[in-house]
Amino acid sequence: MLRIVVLISGNGSNLQAIIDNIHDDEMDAEVVAVISNKSNAYGLQRAEQAGIKAITLEDTYGSREQYDIELQKKIDTHQPDLVVLAGFMRILSDDFVNHYHGKLINIHPSLLPKYQGLNTHQRVLDAGDTHHGASVHFVIPELDAGPLILQAEVPIHKGDTAEELAQRVHKEEHIIYPLVIKWFAEGRVKMLGDKVYKDGKELLPQAAKLHLI
Ligand code: GAR
Repeated sequence: MLRIVVLISGNGSNLQAIIDNIHDDEMDAEVVAVISNKSNAYGLQRAEQAGIKAITLEDTYGSREQYDIELQKKIDTHQPDLVVLAGFMRILSDDFVNHYHGKLINIHPSLLPKYQGLNTHQRVLDAGDTHHGASVHFVIPELDAGPLILQAEVPIHKGDTAEELAQRVHKEEHIIYPLVIKWFAEGRVKMLGDKVYKDGKELLPQAAKLHLI
């Protein structure tokens, strides 16, 4: 049984997709706790509704390092095999990231390595790109730079607003994040050193893209 702790800051729609897919696909996995850095995150209610322990850890510590030490303590109480960042909007300290090497994954709303950081949808529109998407990747100390596991691409239509584009990307996020978690539950994906292996073979970045449409 893959024990998962999910970290959120807001709506938690990816959390919901993960909870639903674990159930519907009868994955050998369980979300054992959800932790938010915001007490008003709607995702906390989603967790409670699903009977999952919902924890708030607000930043009253004064330093990123101290917060992350407390966060690590809270997470490790639940002995997770996998820590899933699902819209957790904090930069993590190197010690925290290194502690979870190979067990910490993130979803980011762009086709990484393009558009690291914030406001990805508007930046993609401003650049006049024809395609956009989402990426699931292992987390390393460098922000939004860890090795890719799976990406989904979406087209950009003429006249799209950032909101419309965000919704299109979200739909794909809700497919690829649960799928990656299924792979973990089945022991099919790992990171060794800085390389990702899927089904025992090295997964090259260009092979991580899933053409869903
Ligand atoms: C998602 O779109 C995720 O890709 C993004 O936050 C959103 C959370 O939505 N994450 C980042 O931007 C991380 N840099 P959700 O709370 O509805 O799952």
